[in-house]
Amino acid sequence: MESKTSFEKLLALTLDKTGLDCRKYNEPYIKRRLNSRLLSNGLAPADYEGYIKILGTVRAEARELYNALTVNVTQFFRDAKMWEILRTDVLPKIIAKLQRPAANGKRPGPAGAPALNIWSCGCSSGEEPYSLAILLRELAGARQSFVPVVIATDIDDLSLEKAASGIYGAASLATAPAEYVARYFKRIGDGPEAKFELEPSVKSLVRFRKHNFFDEPAPASGLDLILCRNVFIYFKTESKDKLLQTFHAALKDDGFLVMGKSEVLFTANFKDKFFLYNSDERIYGKGECHG
Ligand SMILES: C[S@@+](CC[C@H](N)C(=O)[O-])C[C@H]1O[C@@H](n2cnc3c(N)ncnc32)[C@H](O)[C@@H]1O
Repeated sequence: MESKTSFEKLLALTLDKTGLDCRKYNEPYIKRRLNSRLLSNGLAPADYEGYIKILGTVRAEARELYNALTVNVTQFFRDAKMWEILRTDVLPKIIAKLQRPAANGKRPGPAGAPALNIWSCGCSSGEEPYSLAILLRELAGARQSFVPVVIATDIDDLSLEKAASGIYGAASLATAPAEYVARYFKRIGDGPEAKFELEPSVKSLVRFRKHNFFDEPAPASGLDLILCRNVFIYFKTESKDKLLQTFHAALKDDGFLVMGKSEVLFTANFKDKFFLYNSDERIYGKGECHG
């Protein structure tokens, strides 16, 4: 029988061993993920006491549990349609606003080029922020009329280490347009073991940082765009609301927020803060929701 005390004890040990505060996640989700680890260790469902012993003594189990809880799956240009809308609509809109003539009538040139600031929140091993960097390089062309700055954060050291290397296997690139792979990656080796290294000048557009979005303020303010995809879905409403407050405060007045395809922003609580810009792709604009 599940005892509430052993469950709570396990959550405290999980926080200690993995840095993840499961009280912020919705409970059925946490129980499902924990049970997957219990089963892999030959325990009966809800045998939290048994699992506490394993987690407390087997070093590698903390990593297994972390992976089970965070599901850090990602790919370059995952959800092709969303990336197409960013490329053809959202980013050009942001860039056009950056390039508005200043009071003296002059457009910003390379010397005084304005920054286009983006935060990829919950970036996993870097595929999402690097996809952004590739798009920004494509859109900037030779004109250099803006300076792209992509801040990418995640709570997981191992994912961030992989991101910093900028080297990926073919599976990470399976959803990337072939022309981008050819233009921005150097192939290392052959066959199924081949790796792909991102071009250093594109890689340098992304700044990675360890960051727990529940405990820390946004890593920057005055942002033009925030991506927080496939991160939100597991959290309790209060946790989501707190994070949305952080995003709202960090965005410029005309900034955009992109969530994962199956993630819904709670418009009841955020009606006066965000409006749905593209409902299929879960793209929100900062501002009042009309209607
Ligand atoms: C499924 S991945 C999403 C990757 C990428 N955004 C995408 O959609 O392709 C979720 C990521 O959120 C991160 N994450 C979970 N809780 C976090 C927290 N409290 N603070 C920062 N990152 C967190 C995980 O480590 C994981 O890398």
